[in-house]
Amino acid sequence: MSGPFQTRLLRQFSLPRLSPLGWIVKHFFQQNNRFVEQAAVNLALLEPDHQVLELGFGPGVGLKNALAKLGPHGHLYGVDPSEYMHSVASRRLASGIQTGQVKLLRGRAESLPLSDGTIDRVFHCSSYYYWTDLDKACNEIKRVMKPGAFMVTTLRMSQLQKLEENGLFKEVNWQPQLLMEALQRAHFTDVNMKKTSNKAQLNMRQFLPPLLK
Ligand SMILES: C[S@@+](CC[C@H](N)C(=O)[O-])C[C@H]1O[C@@H](n2cnc3c(N)ncnc32)[C@H](O)[C@@H]1O
Repeated sequence: MSGPFQTRLLRQFSLPRLSPLGWIVKHFFQQNNRFVEQAAVNLALLEPDHQVLELGFGPGVGLKNALAKLGPHGHLYGVDPSEYMHSVASRRLASGIQTGQVKLLRGRAESLPLSDGTIDRVFHCSSYYYWTDLDKACNEIKRVMKPGAFMVTTLRMSQLQKLEENGLFKEVNWQPQLLMEALQRAHFTDVNMKKTSNKAQLNMRQFLPPLLK
């Protein structure tokens, strides 16, 4: 399966834009990725005064979960290049933005608009395979992390495999091994992957308008 529609869909997955298809993709992220965002926040073991960074935050579901775990001295930073995702997440995080506890930054993992050694926890979900330069991104992440900080990555392997089978992910290097190798080259330590099972299925059809089904 590959054609103009699939190409447009994949473009929206990697950089959502305000458009009817972008709107569908946003809803898909909000429903379908809720679980992986929540899992990343839980695995990050956030403490109330932590400085936390999410890369590729999309509609901001994970940021909202993370904010609930922070106290008044904790701060949350989100970096994403999509103007559309910024507007969606800004609405979701409006109260935190107003108090200055949340800062959403337009940018990319490859060039983080943050100072050296300032972040306690980094997390990202279903995003790294859209970064254009994994080595550059991993070096940047390492640069902004405090000593002893750690990063959590979550993704749904079964869905990525399905996208590949359907011909949608032909040009996407999504294999986690590629990220793990880049992390090691950037001198991250204890890089490991754990697989858990869940029954959730990829179901784009429920998010498509009737005419596209
Ligand atoms: C598939 S969406 C996932 C969004 C959200 N994390 C979720 O799971 O619902 C990928 C996100 O990564 C963002 N993204 C793309 N390239 C990026 C980059 N180089 N650095 C950071 N984020 C990026 C996109 O704008 C998009 O919001």
